[in-house]
Amino acid sequence: MAVRKNKGGLLKRPKTITEKKFSPNSLKPQQARALIRRYHVLQKNKHAIIRKLQATKSRVLSEVNIENYKAIIKDKVFQESFDKFDLSSVKNNSTFVKVDDSLSTTQLVQLLAEIDSEIAARGGIEAYQSASTQGQTAKRGGDSSKRLVEWLKTEEYKSRLNQNSALEIGCLSPNNLISTCGIFDSIVRIDLNSQSPLILEQNFMERPLPRNNSEKFNLISCSLVINFVPSPKERGDMLLRITKFLREPTKDTLSSLFLVLPLPCISNSRYFDNEILQKIMASLGFKQVFYYEAKKVAYWLFDWQGKRHQKLQVFTKKEAYSGSKRNNFCITLEAK
Ligand SMILES: C[S@@+](CC[C@H](N)C(=O)[O-])C[C@H]1O[C@@H](n2cnc3c(N)ncnc32)[C@H](O)[C@@H]1O
Repeated sequence: MAVRKNKGGLLKRPKTITEKKFSPNSLKPQQARALIRRYHVLQKNKHAIIRKLQATKSRVLSEVNIENYKAIIKDKVFQESFDKFDLSSVKNNSTFVKVDDSLSTTQLVQLLAEIDSEIAARGGIEAYQSASTQGQTAKRGGDSSKRLVEWLKTEEYKSRLNQNSALEIGCLSPNNLISTCGIFDSIVRIDLNSQSPLILEQNFMERPLPRNNSEKFNLISCSLVINFVPSPKERGDMLLRITKFLREPTKDTLSSLFLVLPLPCISNSRYFDNEILQKIMASLGFKQVFYYEAKKVAYWLFDWQGKRHQKLQVFTKKEAYSGSKRNNFCITLEAK
């Protein structure tokens, strides 16, 4: 059997027995960016297919959910398509058929297998992380937490840096500035795919909710993670969940969120911009303290005010800008 392992998480790859380890350690910046972009496209399509499969009434697929699609990967159709897929037949910018009601369950399973096989052939989440880590080296734009630390050292925050704890969601390295700046007394680092014993392998969306204040954090870093989350609703869910992990603000300590997104998420989306983000954040109880727009990335530091608006405003996916060159990034918020 070719497919033997899938630990969950959208980019976790089914591993083949003959698999060789692929590590794109020395990708040129342009290649690294192309790989990251392709992973996002694959992940988005994978998510759309899983959603469609979930909606089918097929008995075989009734167990399917976003984290666990074991029922599908055992399927003969899946395995045949997985094995047949040939990476040399696709280009980085190959598009996918539209995932709609015209596709049969079998076609959906075939497409899913091709996506999984492409992800595996490109090196799985490890390759994606490695490409992202390359972007973190000083030579290539640097560690995004550099900006956070700069902001925390300003007058605005200086007096609130006592006994702070941090949670880093989507952590690629235990040696970035969040860890080495000396501001935080304790740091919990998590990632869907841990690359170090100091990083807990955990999906933030499944991290047990804090039972008390000591299990909450003064700062949560969520850098280039929200754009990795596949659907607008799940992105909104992640922001909402973050508020449940932040400590009550006090005058001596932080209660803040460091958020980083690729700039096109707010500068070139058909459905989203910084204004909509601000409204969502305000409704969740955040106040922006710092914002910086670099060439490719946008950074925010938000203070949490201690409570969400009593009745959360609903933000749906609505076209805000027209134009065929725009992307479809969006964050939505649904009433709970
Ligand atoms: C592009 S990397 C960004 C890493 C780093 N924070 C940075 O700013 O360069 C995104 C990381 O987020 C992780 N990630 C995505 N969704 C996650 C989730 N729900 N829980 C934990 N980690 C997640 C991925 O595994 C990936 O390693």
